[in-house]
Amino acid sequence: MNRRCFLRQMEAAALAGGAGLSASGCLGFHYVNATIRTDRALVRRADFGDRRYVLVDVPTLPLPLYVYRNDDGSYSTVSTRCMHQGCQVEPVAGHLVCPCHGSEYTNEGAVLRGPTRYPLDRFRTELDGDHVVIHLVAS
Ligand code: FES
Repeated sequence: MNRRCFLRQMEAAALAGGAGLSASGCLGFHYVNATIRTDRALVRRADFGDRRYVLVDVPTLPLPLYVYRNDDGSYSTVSTRCMHQGCQVEPVAGHLVCPCHGSEYTNEGAVLRGPTRYPLDRFRTELDGDHVVIHLVAS
């Protein structure tokens, strides 16, 4: 677990009244760094390898973005900030789960299960050559 990840997990636990520290933490998740170009984050497609998703660290955002490769080869991006109380959601078995109070979301950020009532913030995402381009203004 890297330092930034650890700090996020501690913050999430504090938000959840001490009950939210995930057993999995950041272990096993593939983090990549983005190259920032004004209001866009660029991620190399090669960084995905065979993975369906990566977590993207963007220096200007407090939590990473979740970038998912869809069946049709397109990509979708959502914030990992849970819309209930702000903990970091985690990829689990093909969808996203919040370790604090159990909210669940689809890979596109739609609510599957509460207590959250709101979808994750979404970011327009497109391909440009060897890069996945994420527009950093939530849509
Ligand atoms: Fe409560 Fe995510 S912060 S379910």
